[in-house]
Amino acid sequence: MASSRITDTKKEEIRDAADIVDVVSDYVKLKKAGGGFTGLCPFHNEKSPSFHVTPRLGIFKCFGCGEGGDVFNFVMKMEGVGFVEAMRTVAERYNIELPHEEQDDEFDERTQLTEGIYHALRFAGQFYHEQLNAEDEAAEARNYLGKRGLKTQTIRKWGLGFAHDRMDHFFSHATEQGINETYLFEAGLIKYSEKNQRAYDTFRGRLMFPIFNPSGKVIGFGGRIMEGLKGPKYLNSPQTKVYNKSEVMYGIHLARNEIRKNDQSILVEGYMDVISLWQSGIYNVVATSGTSVTPEQMRRLRNYSQNMLMVYDADSAGQNAMIRGLDIALQADMHVRLMHLPEGEDPDSFVQQFGAESFLEYTEKESKDFISFMVAHAEDAGEWEDPLGRKKVVSQILASIAKVKDAVLRATLVDHLRKLSGVGERALTAELGSHSQAFAQEQQRAKEREYRQMQRDENSPPPAEEYSRGEFPRIPDTNGGSRQSQNITPKKKKSPAEKEIIRLMIEHGDEMIYYVGQLITHEYFEDEELRLFYNDIIQRYNDELPVSIEEYTAQDPPFPELTGEIFIEQHSISEKGNERRTTRITRDADPFATARGALKAVTRAFYTRKSEGIKRQVETSDDDLRRELYTELMDLSRKKSSLERTPADELFPTLDDMMKSDT
Ligand code: UTP
Ligand code: MN
Repeated sequence: MASSRITDTKKEEIRDAADIVDVVSDYVKLKKAGGGFTGLCPFHNEKSPSFHVTPRLGIFKCFGCGEGGDVFNFVMKMEGVGFVEAMRTVAERYNIELPHEEQDDEFDERTQLTEGIYHALRFAGQFYHEQLNAEDEAAEARNYLGKRGLKTQTIRKWGLGFAHDRMDHFFSHATEQGINETYLFEAGLIKYSEKNQRAYDTFRGRLMFPIFNPSGKVIGFGGRIMEGLKGPKYLNSPQTKVYNKSEVMYGIHLARNEIRKNDQSILVEGYMDVISLWQSGIYNVVATSGTSVTPEQMRRLRNYSQNMLMVYDADSAGQNAMIRGLDIALQADMHVRLMHLPEGEDPDSFVQQFGAESFLEYTEKESKDFISFMVAHAEDAGEWEDPLGRKKVVSQILASIAKVKDAVLRATLVDHLRKLSGVGERALTAELGSHSQAFAQEQQRAKEREYRQMQRDENSPPPAEEYSRGEFPRIPDTNGGSRQSQNITPKKKKSPAEKEIIRLMIEHGDEMIYYVGQLITHEYFEDEELRLFYNDIIQRYNDELPVSIEEYTAQDPPFPELTGEIFIEQHSISEKGNERRTTRITRDADPFATARGALKAVTRAFYTRKSEGIKRQVETSDDDLRRELYTELMDLSRKKSSLERTPADELFPTLDDMMKSDT
């Protein structure tokens, strides 16, 4: 522990200043719900919001995956940093002064590495930016930016910089300033020569575009080569612990609020496009950085708004990239419009020549829904008049429509295509069917891969799915409801809380099954028979089969025996918790309150088992894995103690809340 720790008063000051809704909104599109807000959880994949923020208490909680905590926990989790760095991030955001470079007792090696990387990147950003403004050698770079129409204020806002064309100009400076070489390397800022193992700068002779995460931390760079030098036009930071290309959107830190306000994002191709549009006063703009559009980028963007306008370069490379990106966006449930710029233009050149007003006017006139866009595209290419050409294009469009998940939207799109193409509805529907099938198979294969991965990594939550069962949606957790696991040897005494949950589900039917199914998974049952029972109930619920005592006493073993065991016992149970606190599960004046008590006990036991599992694993793992396990363990123990501190009724939402946020 370092001597100058951040005091508790400081901590409280930051916590008070921070608006948790504001901070969480950097990552999650929140909707008002009752006294709080809900949204899609950023920590696991879900389609209906189980993530809640309660500003009054300054906390967040996901009822799907169990993550929860205060504003600092959120930032820690989201950015993979330790407590101190999280506090620093929040403090910076609210302009609160902190003493320098603190250490924290929770500072394990992994978060230390992450923070070291952030520190190196912050240093590099400042360094390159200062270099751009330094006299001599950067004059050319400054002139270039001037020629490109960027104002000083814009250059400052985007932190643009300059890297000299020398082997280790940055490296020597950074090490002189005491920046640890390991962090420089891990941040992707330096590389090692194969020949003599000497360190050299990754970026040389380049204009530097820092890439920021949503809260404005530098996570990497894009470097544009200076004119006259050889090399790829843009060089991007390699993938690092803090820079994941498949999820980063360039410009998101300045665009996110505007995207929310406009309820639309504009997706462009290049760094310069983002910056020029921003300078002209169009702020809801982002670009992918060094990749084509990815599902993860779309998922994140959708957190701010579901509507997106894509404006790529007018050349054929740009147009093709846009159409590829379109499919990914549709799959991610985005509502996409597309726009074609005049020949030879990109958004940057357009807005620099004609200004923001013309750009917006042009958008108004020229942007099209994706079907109209593809038809117009085919018309321009002379494909539309030709019957075979038209057939090909119609088929392409149907392949895209097949990726849309929303059935109503899909039907609307088919109808739209019918009007534009003159092809009959039957023919369209038939072909859509075969595209959907092909797509479903592809998805299934992907899911199987994912599932195998998941089994390797017990930690990740099961993929959410959408089904319907009257009022209550299908619950995506079962082992396929398999009753085939016969060789179950009943373990020691069954946990009363586990039995209680099964009893409540059988006694109170759909509502309760749905409720429980949203809050836990079969993994939460330690007893294998009860786990099997749980899976069976969920399966019957999903298949819309009756769930009742009568039903189960008529089933094959072990169900009748289990049912007896569960219902015959009187339920004046006291769950053994830790010594300090005994959770008493009383009979059901309010069955949901009873359920919450039992769910809490079961969740707690689940965390404990998981910790024990990890501890056993630690014994047989190498250093790298051990560090990872250790982080997991810390995380679990935090979750567990927060669980223990929180009363069951605050821990879980009510059924009403759940239904509200589900629509
Ligand atoms: P462009 O070639 O359109 O560049 O690439 P640009 O951003 O419009 O730059 P200017 O206007 O010519 O200066 C579009 C984007 O594709 C990525 C970069 O993110 C770039 O902004 N790109 C391009 C690379 O990652 N590597 C490359 O070699 C080229
Ligand atoms: Mn350009």
